[in-house]
Amino acid sequence: MAELDPTGPLRRIVILGGGSAGWMSACYLAKSLPDVRVVVLAAPEIPRIGVGEATIPNLQSVFFDLLGLSEDDWMPHCNASFKMGIKFVNWATPGRGEARVRDAYYHVFGLLREHEGLPLSQYWTQRRADGEPTGTFDEDCYWEPALMEARRGPRFADGTSATAHAWHFDANLLADFLARHATTVLGVEHVEDRMTEALLDERGYITALRTAGGRDLEGDLFVDCSGFASLLINRTMGEPFLDMGDRLRCDRAVATPVPYDDADLEPYTSSIAMSAGWTWKVPLLGRFGTGYVYSADFQDPDDAAREFCDLWGLDPAEADLRHLRFRVGRNERAWVRNCVGIGLSSCFLEPLESTGLYFVYGALYLLVRHLTDRRFAPGLVDRFNAEVVRMFDDSRDFLQTHYCLSPRTDTAFWRSQQDLTLSDDVREKIATYRAGLPVNQPTVDVGTYYGNFEAELRNFWTNGSFYCVFAGLGIEPDGPMPVLAHRPEAVRSSADAFAAVAAERDRMLRDLPPTVEDVRRVQGRG
Ligand code: FDA
Repeated sequence: MAELDPTGPLRRIVILGGGSAGWMSACYLAKSLPDVRVVVLAAPEIPRIGVGEATIPNLQSVFFDLLGLSEDDWMPHCNASFKMGIKFVNWATPGRGEARVRDAYYHVFGLLREHEGLPLSQYWTQRRADGEPTGTFDEDCYWEPALMEARRGPRFADGTSATAHAWHFDANLLADFLARHATTVLGVEHVEDRMTEALLDERGYITALRTAGGRDLEGDLFVDCSGFASLLINRTMGEPFLDMGDRLRCDRAVATPVPYDDADLEPYTSSIAMSAGWTWKVPLLGRFGTGYVYSADFQDPDDAAREFCDLWGLDPAEADLRHLRFRVGRNERAWVRNCVGIGLSSCFLEPLESTGLYFVYGALYLLVRHLTDRRFAPGLVDRFNAEVVRMFDDSRDFLQTHYCLSPRTDTAFWRSQQDLTLSDDVREKIATYRAGLPVNQPTVDVGTYYGNFEAELRNFWTNGSFYCVFAGLGIEPDGPMPVLAHRPEAVRSSADAFAAVAAERDRMLRDLPPTVEDVRRVQGRG
């Protein structure tokens, strides 16, 4: 390699790790920086985490659109299906984790509709206070819950999108697909070998990764995608990991695939509350992925496996169960000198709102925006770090509200949720909700919001998300928004806005095909 010129642009980026984070990073960086050489070093004998199968809508606009890949291009390679939201089951009432579908609410994608400058949530609360007949919050304010119950897909028969949606897929197939795309289309070099050591210069910057096969892979910037091992950012750079077990208690999972009659393919992720956590269900053609996320402080792995197997009628002795441990929190800084952590090496929140892959491409978007030359200007690096902290902490706070507002008190795990450490920011959001005000009402229309990741990133969990979860848990504001007492006409005419939601729901129930039909078609199995 040429003599190090400490002022020139980046020439070579080395990524350690070939999981979803490693290959997403390779594709994103190679596409965004076409004159930079990108190398991925991954040890085939060290397995990927292999979970991470539920996503959120901006995966397409922020990641696949950049690569020039439509749903039809990537979905068939990843056994991908559609997701229109998350169905939370049993989060409000005591129980032993039986799938009792009556205690259920949807957290729906998309922005909450507005009427006369205020979100429908405010009118919904007012109408309840006025004794008007109302349904549940999610059913009255969104058309998607009825579509999900009826297993309709989010796209019309010609493939155009009818409503905001995300995807479920096989995590290993996604990483394999991205690896092929990176190496065959984007010119990324793939080195299959194990890193044994990182070589440092006198300033503590990484100069090369040494491999078991005897190679030294030199680079200007090193991206740590080595998963929970965090070999570069924690082990080599020595950056501290801030454990947030006092804010989110779950730290284990037991997972397995289950055969599935996909004729009834559900276009949503299920999140079923259990005695010491919750279980995900991610439906794909032919199987669903499922895992019980729990806290080791409140349940041992054998009990967790039994409760999990009970839920699905599996025999714990026969089932192919994977037990996983994870750490919840983030590194103090995501970028230190010439090393950036992306993926599990950098931060992790339990998968309650499917944020893992979002943190990967969110960080990549921010990395390219804050890209430095080989001087690694602190102004850029520090700004990037501050943005990653904001992205992560904001989601952590939102996840906490699912627990600390849950009325469940039937086990020690659920009772312990009352003692979570909460940030001032989330306390303020809860107080705002209780006061009858919109919580983080978007200031842009839905097209701008979803068309501009910058706008979305800065206001990620909006009013609709807070209302879906809070109202879904049965937590009502202390009263309606006081100003509505002075706007009786707006309250009266809001009936038209709710009627429009119902009419749109009926139209879509009529016009949208079953999810399974569209998924089979897009996968070429129709
Ligand atoms: P991963 O562990 O997959 O990859 C690490 C890579 O580093 C491997 O290729 C390995 O070979 C390589 N490596 C390690 N040491 C090496 C060495 N010495 N030399 C060379 N290579 C080395 N996310 C989401 O968006 N939706 C979801 O539903 C979920 N669900 C979920 C459930 C559970 C229980 C967990 C723990 C996590 C999730 N996630 C998730 C998160 C998601 O799984 C995760 O963000 C991505 O898979 C990214 O993982 P990584 O690529 O960072 O690590």
